[in-house]
Amino acid sequence: NTNQQWGGRFSEATDAFVARFTASVDFDQRMYRQDIQGSMAHAKMLAKVGVLTEEERDAILGGLQEVMDEIERGDFEWSVALEDVHMNIEAALTQKIGITGKKLHTGRSRNDQVATDIRLYLRDEMKVILGELTRLQQGLLDVAEREADTIMPGFTHLQTAQPVTFGHHLLAWFEMLERDHGRLLDCLKRVNIMPLGAAALAGTTYPIDRAYTAELLGFERPSENSLDSVSDRDFAIEFCAAASLLMTHLSRASEELVLWTSAQFDFIDLPDRFCTGSSIMPQKKNPDVPELVRGKSGRVNGHLISLLTLMKSQPLAYNKDNQEDKEPLFDVIDTLQGCLRAYADMIPAITSKKENMREAALRGFSTATDLADYLVRKGVAFRDAHEIVGKSVAYGIEQSKDLGEMELAELQQFSDTIEADVFEVLTLEGSVAARDHIGGTAPDQVRAAVGRAREVLAAR
Ligand code: ARG
Repeated sequence: NTNQQWGGRFSEATDAFVARFTASVDFDQRMYRQDIQGSMAHAKMLAKVGVLTEEERDAILGGLQEVMDEIERGDFEWSVALEDVHMNIEAALTQKIGITGKKLHTGRSRNDQVATDIRLYLRDEMKVILGELTRLQQGLLDVAEREADTIMPGFTHLQTAQPVTFGHHLLAWFEMLERDHGRLLDCLKRVNIMPLGAAALAGTTYPIDRAYTAELLGFERPSENSLDSVSDRDFAIEFCAAASLLMTHLSRASEELVLWTSAQFDFIDLPDRFCTGSSIMPQKKNPDVPELVRGKSGRVNGHLISLLTLMKSQPLAYNKDNQEDKEPLFDVIDTLQGCLRAYADMIPAITSKKENMREAALRGFSTATDLADYLVRKGVAFRDAHEIVGKSVAYGIEQSKDLGEMELAELQQFSDTIEADVFEVLTLEGSVAARDHIGGTAPDQVRAAVGRAREVLAAR
């Protein structure tokens, strides 16, 4: 038998392999709720403009609801012969309510239908993503506040640079995620535009009321151009780009968590429930969650490139190529939701090993810049101060002594400008407290930044 939805002009049935090869129902059935939601709005609109009678509309709405219930109960039989989620649902509707079911597709094409479904689906999932992202940010603020006074080495080139507070470091992650949140919100504006009504590519001859359908579906407005509407997948690409950046940030944080849990750093502890052991080495506790998140950033980047490549040579308007948009997009959604959930659960459970962090900051001459700044305040030119401190550090390496551990006389070998008050600036606490401005690492600034960030989250 030829396919009942379009068999009219065909003289032989689709090849069995081709039917399977071209079908998308295995992966697009996850949009069933949005597909039915879109069809219900379309039927209401058709009745409003007089293309369907009210009885026909009600029969369609009742039938679609039955199909929805069946799917949610797990009683629905998906058929590969019916190709995709759209034709499966339409066929089931017609089976339930008879000939009226065949009127649903009036003034519509699968081309505008699928574009609408993806946007509705992505909109729903983005709301989940934004919620989980906010939960993670909340957790970061809690830990940052708790760790506002904890001192650790700050790094450049992964070499000890200057002391920072752990809370300040966590707020850096917060800022990265705050930009990701903004990018997703901005993307959502373009996701929330309604393509329905574009029909196959040129629009339709029926007197449709697109503004009404858009309102029913909670879209900002109908799209402007029918050709663009059925072929545009920018919104999905844009979402994946924002997802890639977000995953890049989680991956960078993961790299640090992995380093910090190593015996060599030993800065933090991750609770056992976020780690796994080794089947051979009894002593092992591996930071699997951060490692896996770091790894998963790769597949999200891959999907972004897949979608860009999918689009780059498509002429207007719809092409079957676009069926390939779904698996990458869905996998980005799933991956992002999984990673955000794991992170939002894990971050508040991190414990810092304050003594180890402090010890590490004391090694490596992290207050060298403070000594140079001290000399500048006493009238030495910065370049000369740099030279003086460089010599002091060389002496310290030779003597295995940090700057703060030297006698005043030892320091004075390099400059007689140095006096007893120097030790106030050579302490870790003095060093971080001195960076006391917006964006600085001083504990009071960290607490103030947490306060401002909490206001941002509360205003969401
Ligand atoms: N399964 C298709 C997709 O995912 C639906 C649209 C198909 N339209 C068509 N004319 N073949 O894009």
